[in-house]
Amino acid sequence: MPKKQRPSGPAAVVTGAGRGIGRAIALALIREGFDVVGIDVVFEPENAAQGLFEVKEAARKLGGRFLPVAGDIARIDDHDRMLDAAVGVCGRIDVLVNNAGVSVAKRVDVLETSPESYDRLVAINARGPFFLTQNAARRMAAQKPRRDGLKPTIVFITSISAEVSSPARAEYCVSKAALSMTATVFADALAAKGINVYEVRPGIIATDMTAGVKKKYDRLIAAGLVPQGRWGLPEDVGRAVAALARGDLGFSTGAVIEVSGGMNVRRL
Ligand SMILES: NC(=O)c1ccc[n+]([C@@H]2O[C@H](COP(=O)([O-])OP(=O)(O)OC[C@H]3O[C@@H](n4cnc5c(N)ncnc54)[C@H](O)[C@@H]3O)[C@@H](O)[C@H]2O)c1
Repeated sequence: MPKKQRPSGPAAVVTGAGRGIGRAIALALIREGFDVVGIDVVFEPENAAQGLFEVKEAARKLGGRFLPVAGDIARIDDHDRMLDAAVGVCGRIDVLVNNAGVSVAKRVDVLETSPESYDRLVAINARGPFFLTQNAARRMAAQKPRRDGLKPTIVFITSISAEVSSPARAEYCVSKAALSMTATVFADALAAKGINVYEVRPGIIATDMTAGVKKKYDRLIAAGLVPQGRWGLPEDVGRAVAALARGDLGFSTGAVIEVSGGMNVRRL
């Protein structure tokens, strides 16, 4: 029997949705009834085993709608096309999750950090999301408010590295600190327009990004680095973003939500 079409839900755009934390955020939002537009620089329609088209299939199994869109968030001149694709299918943008980001290609001491690596990280992790948010916020401000009262919401996935120093990947820390202030400035500027802005700061999360340093973090976690005593999972971040998107923290714009198993707790 053909499945009954459900009415379209509110629309969320998630960057870097093809794997890891972005994938988990997309699926958590699908579970909340959002239609999700997933943007990723890796776009392989023939590959249903991983990437955006695997997420699309996973969303379908949950009864949700997921639209894969190719895009590099560092390319500001291409942002209109990416967001137009979302509006073209969903009619509006209710939620933007700035998740896409990269780590350093190679860990080197801060005395050896190259300008090329610095520029790459800042372009993808901070400059791209700043202007994507500017673009999306203009659209959100021009949209009619939703009848169900759901407020437009923007989430930045930063990192504990926004304030915890790692001299072997200084440019990552700097880019995330810049992204953290980006969240603050937009929260301030958009509050009067009824758009809520949040920063989510993951700690050590098990994804491809951290696969290369798994042994190191296994050791540190076993030695007590994370008070809650385990790796974070992409789903831990997904659930936090879903709570923000559905408005559970509706009177807390500008809030920083740590998803780090207590790494924010100062200890003696
Ligand atoms: N994994 C962690 O421990 C951890 C901790 C704190 C913060 N974060 C942050 O969370 C976010 C997601 O991390 P992850 O661990 O899932 O990483 P990941 O490398 O597993 O996935 C990142 C996704 O973003 C996409 N992407 C990369 N550059 C892009 C670009 N320029 N435009 C569009 N898409 C792009 C990739 O193709 C990939 O699908 C990143 O911003 C990262 O800095 C991760």
